[in-house]
Amino acid sequence: MQAAIIEEVIGDFVHLKRSGSSFRGLSPFANEKTPSFFVVPAKGIYKDFSSGKGGNVIDFIMQHERLSYPEALRWLAAKYQIPIEEDREASEKDKEERTERENISIVSEFAHKWFQEQMNDTDEGQAIGLSYFQERGFREEIIRKFQLGYCPDHWDWMTKASLQAGYSLAYLVKAGLTREREGVPYDFFRGRVMFPIHNISGKIIAFAGRTLKAEKEIAKYFNSPESELYHKSQVLFGMHLAKNAIVKYDTCYLVEGYTDVISLHQAGIENVVASSGTSLTEGQIRLIRRYTPNVTILYDGDAAGIKASFRGIDMILQEGLNVRVVLFPDGDDPDSFARKHSSEEITAFIAANAQDFIRFKTSQLIEEAGNDPIKRAGLIRNIVESISLVPDGIQRSVYVQECSNLLHISEQVLISELNKVITSRYKKKTKEELPVLDETPADGIPDEQTAPEFSLYHQEKDLIRLLLMFGEKEIQLAAKGENDEELIQDTTIAHYLIHNLKVDDLNLETSIYSRILEEYQELLGNDQPLPAHQFAHHADPEVSSSTSDLLSSPYFLSENWSNRHQIYPETEEMNLRKTANECLYRLKLRKVMRMIERLEIEIGQPNQSEATIDELLEEKKALDQIKGALAKYFGSVILK
Ligand code: CTP
Ligand code: MN
Repeated sequence: MQAAIIEEVIGDFVHLKRSGSSFRGLSPFANEKTPSFFVVPAKGIYKDFSSGKGGNVIDFIMQHERLSYPEALRWLAAKYQIPIEEDREASEKDKEERTERENISIVSEFAHKWFQEQMNDTDEGQAIGLSYFQERGFREEIIRKFQLGYCPDHWDWMTKASLQAGYSLAYLVKAGLTREREGVPYDFFRGRVMFPIHNISGKIIAFAGRTLKAEKEIAKYFNSPESELYHKSQVLFGMHLAKNAIVKYDTCYLVEGYTDVISLHQAGIENVVASSGTSLTEGQIRLIRRYTPNVTILYDGDAAGIKASFRGIDMILQEGLNVRVVLFPDGDDPDSFARKHSSEEITAFIAANAQDFIRFKTSQLIEEAGNDPIKRAGLIRNIVESISLVPDGIQRSVYVQECSNLLHISEQVLISELNKVITSRYKKKTKEELPVLDETPADGIPDEQTAPEFSLYHQEKDLIRLLLMFGEKEIQLAAKGENDEELIQDTTIAHYLIHNLKVDDLNLETSIYSRILEEYQELLGNDQPLPAHQFAHHADPEVSSSTSDLLSSPYFLSENWSNRHQIYPETEEMNLRKTANECLYRLKLRKVMRMIERLEIEIGQPNQSEATIDELLEEKKALDQIKGALAKYFGSVILK
């Protein structure tokens, strides 16, 4: 935990920008365009206001990589090269607890090593696999960088090797590496060169195997099927190697094929990923958006390439990214072009040929349309359709202007056409799928309005928040000495809050908060120091995530905002005693109100004896007084 630098770990997955004492980025868990994901290094926590997720560095790895706790520890240990000595018994136990994903990942990792060994260390592999790559012009270091491999042309060698090494058939099948025919297992990939597919942190999640045969009826590529680990629509080939360069150049090149990515890398261009032939998905575009808002499509100049780029453009626009297009000269794809040119030439070519989508579409379509007015109208509508997908209004009007200039059509006409498209889409959408609003917050605890009457959840939450945020802070209290003289007593917020709860014999009802309180009390009893991050780093994920939730209340994070507007974090901290009192009073007031309500119900029961009613009324009177006093403190008339 100490070795792991949270902004560094999360930085592997999210492009973070410093903002005051914290870091900010786009949520990796939600689809958003303005960053509401925060990392606070001083507290060792992150908080995602979009999804409600939060916690310490281990929680992040667990949530993002969907790993169990021990697996997340191993992940971090591997990153920071910290050896873990595993207790045999314990590791046996956690083997059982490993999730499906982890098991698939483990067999995939084994197969991956095996494919590489087959290529590099066997005669068949060298003669067929390695020499294929060499003939394509892939140099040794690039073969290693992409961890390419070879799968020998035999029925079940990979499966046999895996079983022999102790891996289970079930997971080989789930990983898509092994298939069964009438109960006989055989290899899915045979006689193919292997391109491993990684997730953004560089873990193997799938494979693509390219055939070495020229026959047309054999599929050029076999790709791993979807699995618990591999969701094709969320993956871009090469992202784990590209992400830093994408951030550095603030652009992502998008190509179609594995070999395009590899050849561009070999030419020194690293900010490139492949959609792997299929049409681009929302998930893939959102992955890019984590690192940059600028995409440049690099496709073949043939008809299929152009068509594919049209689809890609619309998808990218819709997600609010900027898109440019570069078509390679007919007959060339990025791969072949990269092999023929130097890094500088490629960069220069891209710079000279990148067109924004309007220019690109116009130049592509205008040829087709010529002077045919009907076709020209169709072309304009086509471009307006694309513009209408852009979510940002200002951006849209910039595109309208450009379109107007290029096609010599008045902006007014374009705008009215644009509005038609947008309105009809909106109508269709609201008819089809009325948005379902999920009102339950991420922590599963109902909101004030929906909470059962007089739940103390919010008051308890605030109390624990103060305890964790300011527990160690010192305050001074006026106390009465033995002879009634005024004494000033130093204490801490933690002692003060806990003392006050004890005096009134108050327990917390929300189980997570009561647990935190109990543990805090225990530690306080031992006079241990209690920095909040001890709870943020708590071994129990429920405690740690709850803590970071509390510590990262929005006003705590948005320093700039509060500095500018003098919002209450400063005053809260400056006048801690008052804050603590108010928090306690609010909790007590609410509790008293609930007691009163319960009494009233009891009083209203039929068949109550007069004596009982008198007793209950007496009790109620006392509570009403307390309520009145507390309410007066807040200067408000408390209405039920
Ligand atoms: N693709 C696929 N399955 C196929 C054909 C293609 O998954 N049967 C995907 C692959 O991701 C491939 C991309 O589409 O990389 C582009 O296809 P293509 O240009 O045909 O393949 P290349 O990878 O460029 O292969 P090569 O240059 O060796 O022909
Ligand atoms: Mn190719």
